[in-house]
Amino acid sequence: MPKSPLIVRTVPALRRALDGLRARKASIALVPTMGALHDGHVSLVRLAKRRARRVVVSIFVNPTQFAPSEDFGSYPRTWKADVARLAAEDVDLIWNPDVKTMYPDGFATRILTEGPAIAGLEDRFRPHFFGGVTTVVGKLFTQVRPDSAIFGEKDFQQLRVVTRMADDLDLGVRVIGSRTVRERDGLAMSSRNVYLSPEERRAAPVLFAAMKESARRLRAGDQFEPVMAGGIELITGAGFTVDYFEVRHAETLAPIASAMDGPLRILVAAKIGKTRLIDNIGV
Ligand code: PAF
Repeated sequence: MPKSPLIVRTVPALRRALDGLRARKASIALVPTMGALHDGHVSLVRLAKRRARRVVVSIFVNPTQFAPSEDFGSYPRTWKADVARLAAEDVDLIWNPDVKTMYPDGFATRILTEGPAIAGLEDRFRPHFFGGVTTVVGKLFTQVRPDSAIFGEKDFQQLRVVTRMADDLDLGVRVIGSRTVRERDGLAMSSRNVYLSPEERRAAPVLFAAMKESARRLRAGDQFEPVMAGGIELITGAGFTVDYFEVRHAETLAPIASAMDGPLRILVAAKIGKTRLIDNIGV
């Protein structure tokens, strides 16, 4: 019978709890989340359990990665259900600081990265986003000092940005990407899927379908431009407004001209109604 994870909310309590978890040099994996946990998060936790003796999950809805016009206030918060899910997965510790603990009065430090963070994808449409993510993830890494940290591939640019930051700053954390978990019809699991109306939900699998079709054509040797234009047409035809639908180098996220310069990754962001979805696949 799994026991309830320890829940800590202050940095001194976290330090004490981690000292206990590290007894006999046990390895620690961190799964950073903003809560509203779904099966995708559970798959991150399961990968963490395979990679380390102890698993810490952080739940913190990070205000600095939301623009004032975005959904920080309405972001789904499902604390009780989240704790129950993590207890069922036998997680050791939940790190659940509040905003004042993470960003005390006078907080004045920001981690800003270049490389994949300025690739012209998410950063073009959410210019505030990666500065908020790197600052909070940098703090989570220094607070928890995990051996490894698990991030979903669904947020592929974020995965690349955080990997770069951990390497550049010698944080001693191995960043591990975990495969995207999808609904049966191909829609990538996301905490924001709850915003979709039934009609929008029916349209949403078009993102995966368009990426798959484009990947197939690229593998068959078709030219980039018509392939990507075809994908955009499919997605807009289903009622989405496309922010980007692009093929990039899978490691650097730099634009590339030909499949010879791969490995390739197709990345998409598109809006339907009030909901903005992102997704990606390898080619
Ligand atoms: O992917 C997320 O849920 C967030 O961006 C993260 C990594 C927990 C940072 O707030």
